[in-house]
Amino acid sequence: MMTGGRGVGYGKVILFGEHFVVHGAAAIAAGIANAAIVRLERSDKNSIITEAPVISELSLAAIGNVLASLDIREKYAVYMEGDLPTYGGLGSSAAFCVALTRALAEDQHINLSDEQVNRHAYEGEKAFHGDPSGIDNLMATYGGVMEFKRGKTPAENRYERVVLKKPLNLVVSFTGKFGLTPKMVEAVRKFKEEDEDEFGQLMDEYSDLELEARKSLEKGKLDLVGELMNSNQNLLSELGVSDEANDRIIQLSLGAGALGAKLTGGGGGGCCIALGRDGNHCKELAQKLSSAGFRSFCTTIGK
Ligand code: MEV
Repeated sequence: MMTGGRGVGYGKVILFGEHFVVHGAAAIAAGIANAAIVRLERSDKNSIITEAPVISELSLAAIGNVLASLDIREKYAVYMEGDLPTYGGLGSSAAFCVALTRALAEDQHINLSDEQVNRHAYEGEKAFHGDPSGIDNLMATYGGVMEFKRGKTPAENRYERVVLKKPLNLVVSFTGKFGLTPKMVEAVRKFKEEDEDEFGQLMDEYSDLELEARKSLEKGKLDLVGELMNSNQNLLSELGVSDEANDRIIQLSLGAGALGAKLTGGGGGGCCIALGRDGNHCKELAQKLSSAGFRSFCTTIGK
């Protein structure tokens, strides 16, 4: 019988600003309904038990970090379930850390505010990739639509809810290639190191775009939102984080009338999002992409 706690953490899509957010630009992300669920059993050693494809050493390191952050000495068999795909781009590692933090708090009878859950989960997220901005664990904790800006320390991070005038009907498509966020974050760090000026210019262009993106979301100007997604994608391509499969999905989506399309999350494979005109158009897009070999599902943001 399962005796320990249970916790949930939600997945996310980044609408604007992956990678730029690591370096201090504001990003806009949205929670999705797919979630990681963690159940616990006290044990004589830590372990991760799941049918999802995960890198066990990283999950174990994350479990260790969250236990240390919560100052818990007990060990656990950690069961991860839920319907959040782990193939990259949808914040599954952060969702796992949030679900784990909540489950541990329940088992240990610790009362945590959402902000505390967010902070402890961030420690776990560090095991998965060395320099997370904090946006994924924020979204896994709170859901909704948020604008996030990283501070010099996690305590200086700033975030604010964004209220959408119109819902966004998105198709999420998997390239078939697991995205490796740490590798892509490292590649961008190198890009910055090697060409500060070019990187600075891309950051400036992105920051202007983000201001417009927030306004267009708040005003429900979906055509403009789509155009800005396309411009964001161009900047990500210039950063070198979009691969052939990402480009193919984007091309197919735009060819089928999507208002905009971009990779979401770390890139280098992983997932893309495309903005449909409405729910039915989204279903059509998802069908087209699925029959082209890209597993896809629809999700509505800001209903
Ligand atoms: C990953 O979902 C988003 C990145 O910007 C990394 C991060 O913000 O930690 C690529």
